[in-house]
Amino acid sequence: MVTSQTKSIAIFASGTGTNALALIKAAKKYKAPIKCLICDHPDAQITKENIDIPIYVIPFEKDKKNHEKKILEVLSQYQINWIFLAGYMRILSSEFINHFSKENTRRIINIHPSLLPKYKGLNAYERSFNNNDNFSGITIHFVDSGIDTGEIIYQGKFERKVGDNLDDFIKRGKELEHILYPQILERVTKLSY
Ligand code: GRF
Repeated sequence: MVTSQTKSIAIFASGTGTNALALIKAAKKYKAPIKCLICDHPDAQITKENIDIPIYVIPFEKDKKNHEKKILEVLSQYQINWIFLAGYMRILSSEFINHFSKENTRRIINIHPSLLPKYKGLNAYERSFNNNDNFSGITIHFVDSGIDTGEIIYQGKFERKVGDNLDDFIKRGKELEHILYPQILERVTKLSY
């Protein structure tokens, strides 16, 4: 269970990391205490970015308990008590999630590329596009032990414009992600716990 009162945030990412970059950029503006970035994928684009917080590559291993133990060792160095998942492709164990909960308040946040509860899981933009949805959106939510089932914090909608191909559609969604996720970072930074 988290005990430190001073806010200390980590970002977790697995891939290109555009959301991680948006959060790191916003952290300067909002004085958000982002202390480190954890990546489970040695070749991920985000590990090649020139950012001014330490990046820890902790390659995923089949033994999830052991992998999470290694992550927790790093996080404890920084007394991390909030986590922003930014395209982190691993499912966290309940033990790990509970470690970052205190008195029923969860402290792990995720961004998902759909208007949950629609399109839980992988390839949400693709599925929405292929269903010819007139609009789609993004959801920022707390992480619980289910897949994309945690309490919703915020949702934003975007329109599918006539003539959009899948790339255009994803671009609209990602632009919205990069606006809204930093806003939630700002809100968390202002919380007193
Ligand atoms: C984003 O679409 C996010 O909503 C989802 O994974 C994707 C990560 O993209 N969870 P990036 O690595 O931040 O560019």
